[in-house]
Amino acid sequence: MAAPVIAIDGPSASGKGTVAREVANALGFHFLDSGALYRLVALAALNRGVDLEDASAVEDIARDLKVVFSADAVLLEGGDVTNTIREERVSNAASRVAALPGVRKALLGRQRAFRQAPGLVADGRDMGSVVFPDATLKIFLTADPAERARRRYKQLIEKGISANIDALLEEICDRDARDSQRTDAPLQKCADATELDTTGMSVEAVVAKVVQSYNKRASKAP
Ligand code: DC
Repeated sequence: MAAPVIAIDGPSASGKGTVAREVANALGFHFLDSGALYRLVALAALNRGVDLEDASAVEDIARDLKVVFSADAVLLEGGDVTNTIREERVSNAASRVAALPGVRKALLGRQRAFRQAPGLVADGRDMGSVVFPDATLKIFLTADPAERARRRYKQLIEKGISANIDALLEEICDRDARDSQRTDAPLQKCADATELDTTGMSVEAVVAKVVQSYNKRASKAP
């Protein structure tokens, strides 16, 4: 039987990454940050000076991506890019390459390979709709855009990356629009996903709620 999956989808800076990682830790599950894969494709394209509108060149990059995820670092072609992939220029480029159907297709097998015993927590935009449609639990995590901009600001400043909160809010809204309006695997709440609005909630409270929902669901599974 395939390992269980918890799919956590939602818009930019909704806290999915932090919540998904902590849920994975709490349950002893593997963790997939699918957005990091789109960020890595975008960074590789930027580094090579590839035009982001050149779909076939960006698809080639996605297919041949040489990437290693370790416990606390992401390596691209052997170089540590853990912080670089979080820069706003990469966030914006990632949202553009993620709109290319060939790129999404090229990354599908790579994402599904993360599904291993005892289970996987996967965060992204289409985890529940496309990559793991049979997930045991599907969560759609949201938060008010102004709160998301504040969270992203805090995250960047803590990492020593300079940021402007108004610009962040504008970019978050632009990315939401692009991610929701693209034709291939747009950001959307699946009919069978549970929506969780995290505005004003602590990370601990959100994690506890997701773990509780999963345990309830898993105990009812055949
Ligand atoms: O989750 P994130 O902000 O790191 O994602 C970066 C970009 O990648 C975001 O603009 C949307 C895109 N993405 C996607 O299209 N599908 C996913 N499963 C994950 C991310």
